[in-house]
Amino acid sequence: MSNSFLMRYSACALLIASLLLSVIPQHAAAQALKEPHHAAIDRERIDINANWRFSRFTTNPDSLSYSVLKDWILPSGNLFINGTKHNRPSGTPPGNNVQYVKADFNDSTWEALNVPHDWAVKGPFNAPGISGGMGRLPSNGIGWYRKTVTLAKPDLEKTIFLDIDGAMSYSAVWLNGNLVGGWPYGYNSFRLDLTPYAKEGTNQLAIRLENALDSSRWYPGAGIYRNVWLVKVNPVHVRQYGTYVTTPQISAQSATVNLAVEVENTGSASQQVNVRTKVHLADSATGKPTGVIVAKFPSKSTSIAKGATQSISTSVTIDNPRLWGPPPTQKPNLYVAVTTVTVGNSTVDTYETRFGIRTLTYDANKGLLVNGEHIRVQGTCNHHDLGSLGTAFNIRALERQFQILEEMGTNALRTSHNIPAPEFLELADRFGFLVYDEMFDCWKTQKVANDYHLLFDDWSEPDLRSFIRRDRNHPSVMAWGIGNEIPEQNSASGGTIGKYLRDIVVSEDLTRPVTAGMDSAKATSAFANVLDIEGLNYQGEGRGTSTDSAFPSFHSAQPNKMIWSSESSSVLSTRGTYIFPVTSANSAIVGAASGGNDSASQVSAYELYAPSWGASPDKVFEGQDRHDYVAGEFVWTGFDYIGEPTPYDKSRSSYFGIVDLAGFKKDRFYLYQARWRADFPMAHILPHWNWPDRVGQVTPVHVFSSADEAELFVNGKSAGRKKVAEYAYRFRWDDVKYEAGELHVVTYKNGKEWATDTKKTVGAAAKLNITADRTNIAGDGNDLSFITVAVVDGNGDIVPQANNNVTFSITGPGKIVSTDNGNPSDFTVFPSPSRQAFSGLVLSIVRANAGASGNIVVSVTSPGLPSTSVTLHAS
Ligand code: GAL
Repeated sequence: MSNSFLMRYSACALLIASLLLSVIPQHAAAQALKEPHHAAIDRERIDINANWRFSRFTTNPDSLSYSVLKDWILPSGNLFINGTKHNRPSGTPPGNNVQYVKADFNDSTWEALNVPHDWAVKGPFNAPGISGGMGRLPSNGIGWYRKTVTLAKPDLEKTIFLDIDGAMSYSAVWLNGNLVGGWPYGYNSFRLDLTPYAKEGTNQLAIRLENALDSSRWYPGAGIYRNVWLVKVNPVHVRQYGTYVTTPQISAQSATVNLAVEVENTGSASQQVNVRTKVHLADSATGKPTGVIVAKFPSKSTSIAKGATQSISTSVTIDNPRLWGPPPTQKPNLYVAVTTVTVGNSTVDTYETRFGIRTLTYDANKGLLVNGEHIRVQGTCNHHDLGSLGTAFNIRALERQFQILEEMGTNALRTSHNIPAPEFLELADRFGFLVYDEMFDCWKTQKVANDYHLLFDDWSEPDLRSFIRRDRNHPSVMAWGIGNEIPEQNSASGGTIGKYLRDIVVSEDLTRPVTAGMDSAKATSAFANVLDIEGLNYQGEGRGTSTDSAFPSFHSAQPNKMIWSSESSSVLSTRGTYIFPVTSANSAIVGAASGGNDSASQVSAYELYAPSWGASPDKVFEGQDRHDYVAGEFVWTGFDYIGEPTPYDKSRSSYFGIVDLAGFKKDRFYLYQARWRADFPMAHILPHWNWPDRVGQVTPVHVFSSADEAELFVNGKSAGRKKVAEYAYRFRWDDVKYEAGELHVVTYKNGKEWATDTKKTVGAAAKLNITADRTNIAGDGNDLSFITVAVVDGNGDIVPQANNNVTFSITGPGKIVSTDNGNPSDFTVFPSPSRQAFSGLVLSIVRANAGASGNIVVSVTSPGLPSTSVTLHAS
């Protein structure tokens, strides 16, 4: 194809796209203008994240609690209850007289902020009553959020919803002094109908949240930590999560796409409704419709009685479908179905559903096939916090995590152990990650005193149904997780409750299997019998030093079911910290004389030391390779997270991550990259080579590489050329004696030179190197630049043990949001602009102000070193 043809083709496509775009109503954006002389905007979805007032109370200021409010909150789940629904009690709801819900309450002394907001992340650490497991940050207490929302007269003819993507936890919402409803599970998204309480002019919204001590095994965060939306629709509209796309037949030539659209009529009369849907190619960068239409569903008309909802099902064939699949061998192609609902000649609603076309085969012997291709599951588990930003959702922070995981060769994610932000799945769709979308960490039996077991009886059905309906159109979702290490897994109730939950899932989505992570259930248990995929936590590779594997028993007891390691490894390490002596085993249990430094609360980064239930990555790889029917693994964890600082409970954050809390790669990153991107030439030497106290002492040198042979040179002298042994995943020279100078490795694959790496003894700290991951950022109050400062010697090489104190400052329209260094035992509060470097590095996260344009200069100083700066450009 000639260039000129390409240019003409793309210009023509652009023209067609823009023509089509101009006639196809789009989702109204936040800034959509109302133009009375034009066709009415049929659906508005406005983010109301800005300008909230907030106050946190550690003693109850209002005498309210979930148990007091419960009868009024329960009906909020009614749409997701198939059996008997809850009736709202008559009479005045509790709390309507609490001062904070009233319009005339003076909240001017409360903190002014925008959401997403995590009230706990700013610290201080060591909050009273908060365990190390929960991250020692003040997530407990009662938080009130208030905001005014202005509605115009025409809005009152609409149905007005409040959509909260996630608020931690036990939300209760008032509008104009009236209790509207709420939702207790802090990880779920929910919608409340504000219409009955809305009025023209200023409307007072007030939201009460409450977090108990001992509510979680990890840092839960606190507050309205995800996006909040006001949705205005006409009385006839597509219901919440009201479309469901399935693709029952797929071949290279064609794909059948089925679409069910649920249209609700909240008006006062029956309506004759027409539903039409066009399928667009989605823009690969934004996921938005391109205007290039590839199919049109047949239009359908029906009459919908007042107060009723009808599901309208249609089907269409897409020729030569562009399949969705994980890179690098496949592409995550997406489509958008744009549904238009009309009554008479008026368009009353336009609704977009992004979807993908792919086949997933879960094979007990071959593992996972995507579009017929075997894809080994190379997954990571992750918690929802975004390091020093806490749990306050930020799309760029998550995208950065995804980019780092993608570079490592990750193709799958487990949302351990809870519902992710909606944008998580949108990003996963675009990256082509396969998602194990998980719901619960416990059922009726508690793991900690105030966890979900308190809600299970009332909320498991609405929570599960709304979760599945929210997420089921995402092609990235490949499995539904109904539980992690559920205490009931070994009892009869593991089977009965498991069946109850599986039945709910299957009634909402028949296209994906149900799974759970089992750390102790037996292969023949009632619990294992209920699942479609057998998920083994740690049992497959053998725990600690044991090589007993549960894979064979599950494979023979459940011969038709795919097996994967729903959780693997849990190896521990601190970036850049090496502790001697080094075990000669391929995996060891961490302890004071085994990879751990109890006084410094650090674990050796030789990546060999795990808690008693875990194993090194190497041992996990061996377990997987010896049982080749296993579909793959989800490593615990991709990123370090706040809380659960095993094995040093006194620390603030975990040691499990392949990448540290600041987003800096530990050595382990390269061990996974070597296996997961076997075709990518890479070699990585550890440890660093600055050991003045170890001259003449054994200092093992390990190399992580995708090669099959490697030769190490110590100051130019060969320490031996080695072939990779069967069931070994690293090259090790365990008898190298330290001498200052240079380590150099040359690796080979199939006899040809493949990749090299060098580690040098460096000089004293001489300078600071400052780099931004992105120097051009949007001035929208959300976009972030991640700025890394490295302490380097005169040659520009990182000083690996540098811990210089570094201070950031900023000029221009931006803010230093937080700093971090990945050290799990650093208790400097996250917003602090000053922080010690750790293993040579420190991070600062900078945000441009909303409406900012122009230069933002981030400067950094450190005693005894020249200052330096980086310039960002906001637009
Ligand atoms: C698992 C558990 C995870 C995490 C991990 C730490 O047993 O499922 O949530 O606690 O241990 O190793």
